[in-house]
Amino acid sequence: METLSSENEAVDQMRTKYLGRKGLVASLFIEMGKVDSGERPKMGKILNELKLELTLEIDRLSQSDISESKTDGWEIDLTLPGDPMPVGSIHPLTQVLEDIKSIFIRLGFSLAYGPEIDTEFYNFEALNIPRHHPARDMQDTFYISDEVLLRTHTSDTQIHFMENHEPPVRIIAPGRVYRNEDVSVRSYCLFHQVEGLYVDSGVTFSELKGTLDYFARELFGKNMKTRFRPSYFPFTEPSAEMDVSCIFCKGKGCSICKKTGWLEILGCGMVDPEVYRSVKYDPDKWTGYAFGLGIERIAMLKYGIQDIRLFYSGDVKFLRQF
Ligand code: PHE
Repeated sequence: METLSSENEAVDQMRTKYLGRKGLVASLFIEMGKVDSGERPKMGKILNELKLELTLEIDRLSQSDISESKTDGWEIDLTLPGDPMPVGSIHPLTQVLEDIKSIFIRLGFSLAYGPEIDTEFYNFEALNIPRHHPARDMQDTFYISDEVLLRTHTSDTQIHFMENHEPPVRIIAPGRVYRNEDVSVRSYCLFHQVEGLYVDSGVTFSELKGTLDYFARELFGKNMKTRFRPSYFPFTEPSAEMDVSCIFCKGKGCSICKKTGWLEILGCGMVDPEVYRSVKYDPDKWTGYAFGLGIERIAMLKYGIQDIRLFYSGDVKFLRQF
């Protein structure tokens, strides 16, 4: 900056010296009085040309001074730290989903997707949940019309996929699901699930257990214990829920696992023959298993997040931690 102003000053001094009111050019104009009147117009012309030339030259100097001093490295201090670019982070739900996908892809599963807006048939009827069946109360549904709804689980994708593919089937289907529940720390009106479906000949319940047990160890660590409890879903028979040993107290019993030492992470079972009938598979020929897990629940356990609403808050302070 110092150089810039001193160079400007030098040009200013030059301007005053030649073009100022008492400068050299002005004094030459005064000399004109001493010249023969016949010579005066000629001399006036020469002096005006001189004045114009000096003005242009000094203007040019003062401009180039500024631009040269800007690029000569004095004004820009390259040692100053730069302005940091804000860097985003991957949403914890996306991270957990990526982990889950990579485990099942390694086991030979492929990805399938179904629609979030679906019909009663795919979300309920074809899954052996007829109208007025009490199981419909397990999942409070957002209806768009009598027939059309926001899917309450990714199990609808089982039906879509089997309608369009012959066995063997080995897919996982991640996606958003919606439930008309009161919003709280534990439940939100939308969340994410990953559905799994494996259909072939002679598939056994122990294969289901082995696969899900492997999955839990890959996701939570090799020392993770699992257990299967009998449960009920209309579209699987028999049905079970899988628990993992509580990752907070290592199975000793704490407030998060309600002193049981176990945390429930998914529902599963052998595909009910009624489901095969609705997709025109022969139930005597094919057997298989299905499972469904909630991504939010797993992310909350993995990262110790206490409030499900944080995933949807868009709060940068929360998201930056991942
Ligand atoms: N769809 C069930 C739910 O949302 C989970 C599930 C999927 C259970 C597949 C068994 C088999 O609760």
